[in-house]
Amino acid sequence: MKNILITGGTGFIGSHTCLNFLEEDLNITIIDSLKNSSRNVLKGIKKILELSNKYDENKINFYEGDIRNTDFLRKVFLQAKNKGNPIDGVIHFAGLKAVGESVLNPIIYWDVNVNGSINLFKIMEENNCKTILFSSSATVYGNSQKIPFNESASIKPFNTYGFTKAAVENILNNMFDSDSLKWRIGILRYFNPIGSHPSGLIGENPNHKPENIFPYICQVASGLREKLYIFGNDWPTPDGTCYRDYIHVVDLAEVHKIALKYLFARDSANLTLNVGKGKPYSVLELVNTFERVNSLKIEHEFSFRRDGDIATSYADTSKMYNLLKWKPSKSLEDMCKDGWNWQNNLVSIKD
Ligand code: NAD
Ligand code: UFG
Repeated sequence: MKNILITGGTGFIGSHTCLNFLEEDLNITIIDSLKNSSRNVLKGIKKILELSNKYDENKINFYEGDIRNTDFLRKVFLQAKNKGNPIDGVIHFAGLKAVGESVLNPIIYWDVNVNGSINLFKIMEENNCKTILFSSSATVYGNSQKIPFNESASIKPFNTYGFTKAAVENILNNMFDSDSLKWRIGILRYFNPIGSHPSGLIGENPNHKPENIFPYICQVASGLREKLYIFGNDWPTPDGTCYRDYIHVVDLAEVHKIALKYLFARDSANLTLNVGKGKPYSVLELVNTFERVNSLKIEHEFSFRRDGDIATSYADTSKMYNLLKWKPSKSLEDMCKDGWNWQNNLVSIKD
């Protein structure tokens, strides 16, 4: 791996993946529009690397720009080539991810998530860059499948965000079918990434009211929100709340390096993998664990079920384990401890 382009590299999952690659002394080029992140993320990454004497400014190139801008993408590839360090693989995180917002603003979601991806694949093709990991989501399975979700289950998304992820998966599969030797493709279907780097120097920092449970819990803990509303306690589950497959973002970052190595070791590949821990926890278990490991109280109240939720979602992780020989190692306790450490740090920085 010479130089990996990371789109959306200053976002939540992207920033942890950039750090993971830099810790391994790999070269990265980051593209981000900063729509849902900021340049401060780069400072956080730098600080963490400096603490272990691993910071090398020559290993990281940042370009602010939009993946929908073809000329911009072309320039990024060209500049890397001119510097003698052509981009030889891409991790494609950039996109919009709020389910509720996607239903209200479908055009922007199709434009960024699908047109932006097509643009990127076009420029990769122009540059004979054939290796790509794409951030997909468990949301593509919808709600009518056998649990745990297996990669061969049919794809039945039920919201705009999910449709855009399924569309990009289809595009990638069509690209591979058109000329299998031309591509090395990895589609990673993430389950529920939470937590932060243990340093508390990078993490998730939503620029609007969080839709997802973990940043919401963190904001209740820090006093930014009064209480957590738990969407339903009458689900057909042991404690009546929904079960999800939470995975530590540091583990999730690691799997990108391993999956990319797997792709680079082959002439051609088209891989679709679930990425989760394969063990579900209920909303109440998550709240209780967060309270216990951080010795604090999360005010909560049960409210109505949220439209589109399903009772239980977790991954069949056997394919990931068998192919990559890798399992996430961090526990729910780690996720809660590290996530709170970041949020706590963030509040004190703002103060
Ligand atoms: P994030 O919003 O933190 O990161 C995405 C990054 O992309 C942001 O930094 C944003 O500024 C950037 N971006 C947005 N539009 C862009 C554009 N047009 N051009 C360039 N950059 C742009 O999200 P995340 O949680 O890090 O998610 C990363 C990827 O993983 C997304 O594609 C998301 O759909 C997918 N995913 C996330 C989750 C999750 O729960 N976080 C679950 C499944 C899949
Ligand atoms: N929940 C609450 N209160 C909240 C927020 C969430 O009770 O304020 C509950 C939800 O009802 C659900 C659970 O917490 O039962 C998890 O909800 P999230 O929104 O955190 O996660 P989802 O599993 O619904 O969806 C997330 C992402 C999707 C992604 C999916 C699978 O939002 O984009 O994980 O990866 F597709």
